[in-house]
Amino acid sequence: LCAMAGLSGAAYLLGSINCAVLISRLFFGDDVRNHGSGNAGTTNMMRTFGYKAGFATFLGDVLKGTLSVLIARWLAPAFGLEAVHAASAAAIAAMLGHMYPVYFRFQGGKGVATAFGAVAALHPLILLVLIAVGLPLILITGYVSLGSMTGAALYPFILLGTMLYRGRIDELSLLLAILLVGIILGNHRENLRRLREGTENKFYRKK
Ligand code: G3P
Repeated sequence: LCAMAGLSGAAYLLGSINCAVLISRLFFGDDVRNHGSGNAGTTNMMRTFGYKAGFATFLGDVLKGTLSVLIARWLAPAFGLEAVHAASAAAIAAMLGHMYPVYFRFQGGKGVATAFGAVAALHPLILLVLIAVGLPLILITGYVSLGSMTGAALYPFILLGTMLYRGRIDELSLLLAILLVGIILGNHRENLRRLREGTENKFYRKK
């Protein structure tokens, strides 16, 4: 348990490197959290500072999710941990770091890019399915939150499907996936309300 906490703590610190805050402050001399939805993530960077800024943020935040999983998976055996469980816990920790960054007053993003990077390392094929559903939704509606939430919500179901197909259910992995998704969805409460009211922000700038 100590080793699991240690690995997760490291992933939390890595996840706390919030690229939206860093890039907006360093390159635009302004904190993205003062603009648009106030969220420190890819979507709001795109909305506020344009596509390149959004893309750079996405890459950085994806990378830290992927790295967290890879490092935890690599170190797990040395601590006597099950690799997939250590990696899944690190994914959650990195995402929490992104959402509540210790270096930036605990005000970060919604964790989608970081979870994206983590799932890319955990279950790449499942991620492809989630992209195939989420991306068209985003492009058609202009609402990143809608695609993010739909993709996230599907994740545990598809994971369970693959486990059933293989004939072995790994309860802990499933539970950690549900936790990851639950946190993402919980962080989208405001988006959900805006979507219902028809006032949600699109990812591009209003003309
Ligand atoms: O990943 C965050 C996205 O789903 C919503 O971002 O800025 O529109 O609240 P935002």
